Amino acid sequence: MFQIIHETVEYLKRKTEDFQPEIGIVLGTGLGGLVSEIEVKHQLMYSNIPNFPISTLEFHSGKLIFGILNGKRVVAMQGRLHYYEGYSMQQITFPIRVMKALGIAHLFVSNAAGSLNKDFKKGDLMVINDHINLQPESPLRGRNDSDMGPRFPDMSQPYQRSLVKQALEIAKENEITCHQGVYIAVTGPNLETKAEYNYLRIIGGDAVGMSTVPEVIVANHMGIPVFAISVLTDEGFTEVLQPVSLEEIIETARIAEPKMTKILSQLISTL
Ligand code: HPA
Repeated sequence: MFQIIHETVEYLKRKTEDFQPEIGIVLGTGLGGLVSEIEVKHQLMYSNIPNFPISTLEFHSGKLIFGILNGKRVVAMQGRLHYYEGYSMQQITFPIRVMKALGIAHLFVSNAAGSLNKDFKKGDLMVINDHINLQPESPLRGRNDSDMGPRFPDMSQPYQRSLVKQALEIAKENEITCHQGVYIAVTGPNLETKAEYNYLRIIGGDAVGMSTVPEVIVANHMGIPVFAISVLTDEGFTEVLQPVSLEEIIETARIAEPKMTKILSQLISTL
């Protein structure tokens, strides 16, 4: 693995004239708009980067963007990789390993998620303060490379508490409805049945989605502090469950996106 990461990192350093990002960003479904706030220095298609998995989703554009956001050097993934696309957990999290090797000291992650909490409405934001992993596998399964991180990484604080607190303060100052809560990761790609939403709520979830947790586990493995935020695109707690389509999820994410962008970019400037 080390050799493969090294090859990709060498390529990226060459292509970006040794641009050294301080912060890594992973943008979720319908949430690529933060990129318009970035003063782009270099951008590369995943398909041109050696060893990079290629996003199979047409609504995920699949670009790695290097630039300046609010005075900070960032590398952003516009288009993430999901387990349901058929990749291994190691492939999904490979870009996080690469970002770490490029020098990031923080990871910011966004996603679209379904709300399980009746007080958290469609279009609201939720800062993730903990998670439950219901995906079938950990990205750390297999031989551990102790140069990257420990065999049994601690997960007592997977999301940095000070960033959660600061993000909620920024939201309040800007009159943005932003909750905090527990994110449950499922495999997808099907959405949940009414009984499944109910179960996810009972076991302690506030939101459910198909991503984020693999990246967060790998970041924790390597000791990178994480901040993650969900845009709640549908409601899984209603008496009569409404059908939800991908188009609606993307549309709700698009409408809520400027609020998330505001929080992320202000939070980044405080680092
Ligand atoms: N369930 C799972 N993933 C999702 C949802 C949902 O309701 N909404 C957006 N991503």
